[in-house]
Amino acid sequence: MTEQLAVDAVGVTKSFGSLRAVDDITVQVAPGEVYGVLGPNGAGKTTFLRMLFGLIRPDAGTIRVFGRTWEKDGINVLDGVAGFIESPKFYPYLTGRQNLEGLALLDGGDRADRLAEVLEVVDLTDRAGDKVSGYSYGMRQRLGVAASLLRDPRLLVLDEPANGLDPAGIRDMRALVKRLAGSGLTVLLSSHHMDEVEEICDNVTIMRTGSVAFHGTIEKLRTMAPDPGYALSTGDDVRAREVAGRHPSVAVTTDPDAELVVTGPRDDVAAYVADLVRSGIRLDGFIATRTPLESLFFMLTDAESSVEGAA
Ligand SMILES: Nc1ncnc2c1ncn2[C@@H]1O[C@H](COP(=O)(O)OP(=O)(O)OP(=O)(O)O)[C@@H](O)[C@H]1O
Ligand SMILES: [Mg+2]
Repeated sequence: MTEQLAVDAVGVTKSFGSLRAVDDITVQVAPGEVYGVLGPNGAGKTTFLRMLFGLIRPDAGTIRVFGRTWEKDGINVLDGVAGFIESPKFYPYLTGRQNLEGLALLDGGDRADRLAEVLEVVDLTDRAGDKVSGYSYGMRQRLGVAASLLRDPRLLVLDEPANGLDPAGIRDMRALVKRLAGSGLTVLLSSHHMDEVEEICDNVTIMRTGSVAFHGTIEKLRTMAPDPGYALSTGDDVRAREVAGRHPSVAVTTDPDAELVVTGPRDDVAAYVADLVRSGIRLDGFIATRTPLESLFFMLTDAESSVEGAA
């Protein structure tokens, strides 16, 4: 028997009036994996997750969560599922702990004994006695994860969990998701950051205005990524271009700000830079502009371009 999928959404479509927000997308999440739904603003990520949670109905397609469907099983679809769409909501005048106590009570009293544990997991033990109104955005997001974990889910669904966080908050949220995944939890998250998905997900669906632009593993995505690009500033750009003539696999172009841009396979670019230094050309700056996967993300989600090998 094949292993039952945590999420098996096939051919899902949803329109709002004449706008097709989600167009025939298929997302299949195996138990234990971290799955990313990636796309720019308005791509349809939240709409898809809302359908998964039964908040809106698809116009076409089927959604199974651990084999259950909304049509046949109703609210039981959400057995073992927790998470939040957009931002988690709490009573601001209650403390983090009181909010969780309230939720535990609503969800069946036996959750309360998990309270200390989930606060610890999201690193809020020290602040659990403070009112939520005094929480930073990142702390509220983490309290949202804690509230989800109270249910002891098999599947955690997070809609852009790192959105709006500062770099430290992003790092903490990613570490938290990785920790949870390491404990065997299945995680389905949406994001519009390629680096986030690359860092924590096994499989990814990239959406562009409703439809699937790529579907597969991060490894496959890497093989499709273009060469990395770098901004180069030197003491003598003319000679720097001449030196590039000795490195046929490296392209040196000038961007609209008259800065040199170097693209090519990583090792060949390194050899070119070494050659610049050997040639006595002063190197003032050498900065990676976009990672290859970021470039690929823009190519995949830009309506004008097409990428070989994409869905
Ligand atoms: N209730 C609604 N009524 C009308 N249009 C909607 C509704 N919900 C979403 N849309 C539209 O559907 C499209 C997809 O929206 P959605 O919120 O799913 O995108 P998203 O990928 O989550 O974007 P973001 O990254 O900004 O959160 C957008 O064009 C949006 O305006
Ligand atoms: Mg959204």
